Amino acid sequence: MTDQNLVPIAELTPESAAAELQRLSAEIAKHDQLYHQQDAPEVSDAAYDALRQRNDAIEQRFPDLVRTDSPSIKVGAAPASGFAKVTHAQPMLSLANAFDRDDVNEFAARIRRFLNLPETETLELVAEPKIDGLSASLRYENRKLVTGATRGDGAVGEDITANLRTVADIPQTLPDDAPDVFEVRGEVYMRRDEFFALNQRQEEAGNKVFANPRNAAAGSLRQLDSRITASRPLHFFAYSTGETSAPVAQSHWDFLARLKDWGFTVNPLSRRCADADAALALYEEVATARAGLPYDIDGIVYKVNRLDWQSRLGMVSRAPRWAIAHKFAAEQAQTLLHRISIQVGRTGALTPVAELEPITVGGVVVSRATLHNADEIARKDIRQGDTVIIQRAGDVIPQVVSVVIDKRPAGSQPYEFPTHCPECGSIVAQEEDEVVRRCTGGLVCPAQSLEKLKHFVSRNAFDIEGLGSKSIEAFSTDGLIVTPADIFRLKDRQTEFAEREGWGEQSLRNLLASIEARRTISLDRFIFALGVRQVGQANARLLARNYGTFDAFRAAMIAARDTESEAYATLIGIDGVGPSVATDLIAFFAEQHNETVLDDLADQLTIEDFVQAESDSPIAGKTVVFTGTLERMTRNEAKARAESMGAKVSGSVSAKTDYVVAGPGAGSKAKKAAELNVALLSEDEWLSMTGGPPQ
Ligand code: IVH
Repeated sequence: MTDQNLVPIAELTPESAAAELQRLSAEIAKHDQLYHQQDAPEVSDAAYDALRQRNDAIEQRFPDLVRTDSPSIKVGAAPASGFAKVTHAQPMLSLANAFDRDDVNEFAARIRRFLNLPETETLELVAEPKIDGLSASLRYENRKLVTGATRGDGAVGEDITANLRTVADIPQTLPDDAPDVFEVRGEVYMRRDEFFALNQRQEEAGNKVFANPRNAAAGSLRQLDSRITASRPLHFFAYSTGETSAPVAQSHWDFLARLKDWGFTVNPLSRRCADADAALALYEEVATARAGLPYDIDGIVYKVNRLDWQSRLGMVSRAPRWAIAHKFAAEQAQTLLHRISIQVGRTGALTPVAELEPITVGGVVVSRATLHNADEIARKDIRQGDTVIIQRAGDVIPQVVSVVIDKRPAGSQPYEFPTHCPECGSIVAQEEDEVVRRCTGGLVCPAQSLEKLKHFVSRNAFDIEGLGSKSIEAFSTDGLIVTPADIFRLKDRQTEFAEREGWGEQSLRNLLASIEARRTISLDRFIFALGVRQVGQANARLLARNYGTFDAFRAAMIAARDTESEAYATLIGIDGVGPSVATDLIAFFAEQHNETVLDDLADQLTIEDFVQAESDSPIAGKTVVFTGTLERMTRNEAKARAESMGAKVSGSVSAKTDYVVAGPGAGSKAKKAAELNVALLSEDEWLSMTGGPPQ
């Protein structure tokens, strides 16, 4: 529903107000779920705040209609499953919002009234950036980190201790002067540059990319395997406390200083302010500096400095009376939407993109904005030639918020989503329950096949050195590489190369050598490289383990077309596969074009059988830790090989570790191995134990 369609609150009848509150409650709950549990918000923070504000305003006019499930009573979303639950010793609160200077002055005045402060008494505030990450609570007992949890619904969160331990800013132990029980709360976040780099790695690996740094941080923390969290660049700013067995300061400012002494990172822009005016001055300063900060913030939090006053003030509904979040206005701008273009992804998904007259929003020049999907365009009635309002909020990907109807040119027509792929003309289809529309052209579609080729050579697939996205694009434009097998035929087309710019003899020789090095490939990498929908690295490995050889796998995918067959039952029986993935696999192998590509590839390649974990392998069932730099193979390869021989690879050394393989530069893990009497091997010793270096 767009704002224009909303009935003004003054005009609501009790009946329509009740209906509206019901709708808002459901809608806010849906967005809470998307934001907190799926890390995939569909609306901007500003739009979400607007929903909550409308809900609050209607409740204020009709207090009798406040629902038991009202969003004004609930905080966040109930915890997602998969992690143990942690009941917070003290609830993790939320913050009330201020949207302008008046709201902030009223906040200070309210506190003065509540505490009955004489005019001569100053009300000191601490102003801190509001970090756009996700809050976490850390519990230290006897100065050791024992539990780390998400906020969840404020009362009960998820136990993510193992994941939080991997965050370098979080101390594992506290010094002697810290209390026996001490809870610290703060925000886990990812820097913008790290977020972009992570997304690039995710994209190359054919994995999900994140919409913004906050989602990337949330997705990284909510991993069941803490090794994945450890590989993600996460940081932590500490800003408040929960249960403590002894007071640690008399003011919030001193509390922050103690946190610093104890090894926490406190946001350096925080400031002690003599009054609300001084706090508002910090707001203006930080708002100006915002675009240049390395991380996203969405406002300034003001907190009463004196802790005795904080406890007198207490809380109301879900937020403390002594703090407020002054939100930054989402950075918006008006510009012309020249046209809507359609991007075709590797799996044929069509993504509409707004091609805009370039404009600066929040210090960044924006010339394109995502329109998400056809439903979104229809909902906002976005048309080519419209003047639109675009926004960069916490979100890094700019969004089209709404259309400026007054500026719509005469004769404009609603946008019609293409029924045929703009790249290949194939029919566009939409599956039931899916908002995404897809090109059905498969590899016939040049855009899909280009994206598939990029995926084919990406790091976790064929990983061909010197053949990145850019060169694939260039070779494919020239017709040198059209299907994957063409990569392996490049060596027969060297004369054509001689004419290409930028390819000297040496670089050509290097490229051909790295292609040759990949002529033999493991089955799981090969399956992943095919780029079948929903078949990422993990599923590719499962399939490889289950079918063993490429021929067996392919025959099974063909036999499984018959859903009554044993082959189908086996396929969906694989733990982690299931009917939806099976459908995509079967469809892939049923496509005539893919058959041809596979036959062609089979002529060029040696696809290694999956090495089943041998029970008589010397490392079957053993737990291995790799540390330091390996010189004969990459860490990933060493890990894959150990796993294929039945070993478990772990990221940390414990009494359960059997072997620590240490290369140059190994540090604390090697030391710990020595302490725990765990066998310490050099890379060469390891290789001779596991059958020699890779060929
Ligand atoms: S204080 C009782 N300080 O904002 C006070 N919160 O909208 C609890 N946040 O859940 C929060 N930066 O996730 C506080 N400097 C800061 C913050 C901050 C970000 C988040 C936090 C909280 C949410 C409330």
